[in-house]
Amino acid sequence: MLNELIRSLTPKVAAFRRDIHAHPELAFNETRTADKVAEYLERIGLTVHRGLAKTGVVASLSGGTSPRSIGLRADMDALPLQELNSFPHHSKYPGKMHACGHDGHTALLLGAAEALVQTKNFDGTVVFIFQPAEEGDGGGRVMVEEGLFERFPMDMVFGLHNWPGLPAGSFGVTEGPVMAGTDRFEITLTGRGGHAAMPHQAIDTILAGSALVQALQSLVSRNTDPQEAAVVSVTRFHAGHADNVLPETALLGGTVRSLTPELQEKLEDGMHRICSGIAATFRVQVELDYTHGYPPTINAADPTFIAREVARQVADGAPVFTHLKPSMGAEDFAYLAQVVQGCYVWLGNGAGEGGCMLHSPHYDFNDEIIGTGIRYWVRLVEKALAVSG
Ligand code: NI
Repeated sequence: MLNELIRSLTPKVAAFRRDIHAHPELAFNETRTADKVAEYLERIGLTVHRGLAKTGVVASLSGGTSPRSIGLRADMDALPLQELNSFPHHSKYPGKMHACGHDGHTALLLGAAEALVQTKNFDGTVVFIFQPAEEGDGGGRVMVEEGLFERFPMDMVFGLHNWPGLPAGSFGVTEGPVMAGTDRFEITLTGRGGHAAMPHQAIDTILAGSALVQALQSLVSRNTDPQEAAVVSVTRFHAGHADNVLPETALLGGTVRSLTPELQEKLEDGMHRICSGIAATFRVQVELDYTHGYPPTINAADPTFIAREVARQVADGAPVFTHLKPSMGAEDFAYLAQVVQGCYVWLGNGAGEGGCMLHSPHYDFNDEIIGTGIRYWVRLVEKALAVSG
């Protein structure tokens, strides 16, 4: 019955997905996409709430009498990237592309909402969350700040991302950290500019900066448990203009990645400590500007247990991986999972054209996994909000 229903919905969901793919919109500007999403939800009889995080769309569906509630989240934004595909549904907008499959995530969740409206085989409330600006601008964080969980109380929240490289229709459901926390830093060194031939009369920021770059590498190699993952990358180092002048200032910047909030904090503390040490050693002024980006995405035990059981049920012979290595990329589902316990799964997208990864100009969401994706969402709701008795 469910399989038949999903089979009948799939062509419509695929067409919707391709339309969104052809009309990609960037962070907080997903107006056409949000209109289409709202239209779809209204057409299947749901009340739509708009305006959270500017372009966010939320709708809920209740069955039975239980006060239990879960959230299902999809992301709607595209990337500032020129698409190099030539199939008919390629991007119509220059310099914008759905290269991360958020078109697919959005379509899948709409298909699931439609199936759930028809089957309603659950006891509780399911909240459908369509968030803007996942790709770096923290649309999920803004939705939380603007009261997502106050307006739509939830006991658990679930996310799904397609994953190229995993076999089509397979799942990755791993408890604990699955995506990294990502921080940025900028360090300004101020010394005393002077003649390159009289270094004793100057305070050399290039030497101090070079020592700093080296010392920062000890944060991972000497201060982090070798069994834990962390990255410190200095990606910018700007100083000086002439061969005979020692520059007064130097500027360094880069990124820090880690998989737990504890380590994230420890790396920030360590960076402050090393900066102070370099300042004392080389008599420079060191100003560190450290910015927290997305926190690590951490899958909680209970929702992960449910997600894993459901993935096994719907994978239809495709593998369900339960111990995948986390990705050092980041995901703003993390902000939702910080407030209520959550689980974020990977749905295999297959090898893809030429085996291309997310954010490739050749990427496309695989429409063949739509059925599995919808089935996953529906069965997840039926399990998390199971009708008792
Ligand atoms: Ni993505």
